[in-house]
Amino acid sequence: MKSLLIVWYSRTGAARQMADAAAAHEVNGVAIRLRQAEAAAPDDILNAHGLLFITPETLGSMAGAMKSFFERCYYPALGHLNGRPYGLMVAAGSDGAGAVRDIQRIAAGWRLREAMPPLIISTNAQTPEAINAPKNLGAEDRARCAEMGATFAEGLALGVF
Ligand SMILES: Cc1cc2nc3c(=O)[nH]c(=O)nc-3n(C[C@H](O)[C@H](O)[C@H](O)COP(=O)(O)O)c2cc1C
Repeated sequence: MKSLLIVWYSRTGAARQMADAAAAHEVNGVAIRLRQAEAAAPDDILNAHGLLFITPETLGSMAGAMKSFFERCYYPALGHLNGRPYGLMVAAGSDGAGAVRDIQRIAAGWRLREAMPPLIISTNAQTPEAINAPKNLGAEDRARCAEMGATFAEGLALGVF
């Protein structure tokens, strides 16, 4: 049995819905596990065959809780993840590129292998009111996240990644 670990953080709901969608499809031979970034520990990532990181972009980078997860796990996992496949999804008000860039840099340090192109979902939150409001992703965005999660899991099951 393979395992796909989804490490996620969300403040107003978009990235949580992305994580739920990514985990929605059952794929034979793959256990999909969801871990909130605050709770994820080095053992979780060391024991996973594939890793999917899902975070909002804040202040031009990943959210602080996601960065804290990487800081907590970086050195315990360094040298033990070489070549392991990973994917990345970002919930962004308007951009998302900064969070992608920063996580790709950390993933490169871990020698992870990017299994799929990063997916940025825009919530169009650009005013203080919109940014603080609970998010409700549309069906199309949820479907894109579901497809990426399922494709990643199927790739693990087939040994493609
Ligand atoms: C403090 C703060 C800073 C933000 N900075 C950015 C940013 O730099 N780029 C961007 O595209 N969105 C930015 N946003 C918008 C969030 O990415 C957006 O609201 C997203 O939906 C949050 O994800 P969540 O609903 O999972 O919490 C920011 C939001 C907050 C609260």
